[in-house]
Amino acid sequence: MASPKSLPPWLFYDQAGSLLFDQITEVPEYYLTRTERGIFLQSADEIVTRAAAGQRLRVTELGAGSADKTRLLLSSAVRQQGEVVYEPLDVSESALEAARKRIERELPEVRVAPREEDYTLRLDLDPLPAGERRLVLYIGSSIGNFEPAEALRLLETVRAGLRSGDALLLGVDLVKEEATLLAAYDDAAGVTAAFNRNLLVRLNRELGADFVPEAFAHRAVWNAAASRMEMHLESRAAQTVRLAALGLTVGFLPGERIHTENSYKYRHGQAEALLERASFTPSATWTDPCGWFAVCLGRVE
Ligand code: AVI
Repeated sequence: MASPKSLPPWLFYDQAGSLLFDQITEVPEYYLTRTERGIFLQSADEIVTRAAAGQRLRVTELGAGSADKTRLLLSSAVRQQGEVVYEPLDVSESALEAARKRIERELPEVRVAPREEDYTLRLDLDPLPAGERRLVLYIGSSIGNFEPAEALRLLETVRAGLRSGDALLLGVDLVKEEATLLAAYDDAAGVTAAFNRNLLVRLNRELGADFVPEAFAHRAVWNAAASRMEMHLESRAAQTVRLAALGLTVGFLPGERIHTENSYKYRHGQAEALLERASFTPSATWTDPCGWFAVCLGRVE
């Protein structure tokens, strides 16, 4: 492990980690999911109308996991145009299958066309028939887990896969009072702590490591200078860990941290600026009454 020590955040999402993340979205302190959902409850019809601009809409989602928020948008699309094609894109076949079953059960007017692909590398979509346009969803503040330069690159990749008239709906978490942010990433029930430590459980299983997860404390930190929440695992004592599959032994000092995640928080106007830099035209933004979360629509001219 390099110094300072870090692990890449994609490691969170094994089966147990994905379940823990679902549980995080339901703890009272994690305001993100319910706040964005509130925006969709309020404005899904308007979002869909704006994106469609008088044509039929095909809804493409980056990731297959945003469950009932996506359903709100798809329901609006069904109300406005009857049948809808929904294309979730994910690297996980099981996540895609779960999304397909769920949506088909709940919204029979929606035809689910899952695509197993890594949208961070390239967006390879079927051309649409005339009179149809695409709305790509990248919601849930997922963009916040990318470093700013990577976030821009990702949006540029999405832009390259779209054509004139298509649009991207981007959900970003906004900067707010520090106490609210800290609580969201360190809930009282300890679900986020378990999510963070699950990384070590995974390394034990997959790399034959011998981490004692409880020997690491979960730490959530607000880094104001970088405008991001950070998660770390902090060694409670001096200890040595063996990663058998890598033939590696790693020493930890007491208080030494492994940096496991960044979750960037945007200021008002920043998401629109990012969309513009990626050659989208920001066309509308919706927020909640507290101004905690923003959903921005960027159009391809
Ligand atoms: C998936 N992503 C948007 C979550 C976030 O808020 O950055 C992951 C997460 N990490 C801790 N809690 C939730």
